[in-house]
Amino acid sequence: MNERFETYSPVETEAFGEKMGREAKAGQVYCLSGDLGVGKTVFTKGFAKGLEVTEYVTSPTFAIVNEYEGRLPLYHYDVYRISCEEEMEDTGYEDYFYGEGVCLVEWAELVKDLIPQDAIWITVEKDYTKDDDYRLITIRQEG
Ligand SMILES: Nc1ncnc2c1ncn2[C@@H]1O[C@H](COP(=O)(O)OP(=O)(O)OP(=O)(O)O)[C@@H](O)[C@H]1O
Ligand SMILES: [Mg+2]
Repeated sequence: MNERFETYSPVETEAFGEKMGREAKAGQVYCLSGDLGVGKTVFTKGFAKGLEVTEYVTSPTFAIVNEYEGRLPLYHYDVYRISCEEEMEDTGYEDYFYGEGVCLVEWAELVKDLIPQDAIWITVEKDYTKDDDYRLITIRQEG
């Protein structure tokens, strides 16, 4: 699977995240990749909404992982500041990545080796030839 979507505002990216959140199934891992400030957390806020999370979602900068209650449990990782695999182990990631909730991992490429094979990869990119608010979102899943 390899799909491309284009958005032209944060609202559109959030709405796209919400659609994916509505379709998310138990046990899935979503990996978000893309530059600083490109829109990963905007996507995540929508995604959480789609999973019927009512709590306010922020990036788990210090905690590495935040847990939210929704239609399914949501485990929101931001691994930007992870410096070693041990820090990931301390979060008990295996129970989450291979559990029955839904995981969403910002900066997943930094812990690529730990990500399950069947994860869904979402890349958000700007295009400097286009409008400032333009984003290209690419969805990939192996197999
Ligand atoms: N089409 C768009 N989609 C998403 N965000 C957009 C878009 N256009 C502009 N933006 C802006 O880009 C910024 C994205 O911020 P966000 O925190 O989501 O980035 P991030 O990828 O999570 O960054 P970080 O790597 O620091 O966690 C916001 O200020 C948002 O308003
Ligand atoms: Mg973020």
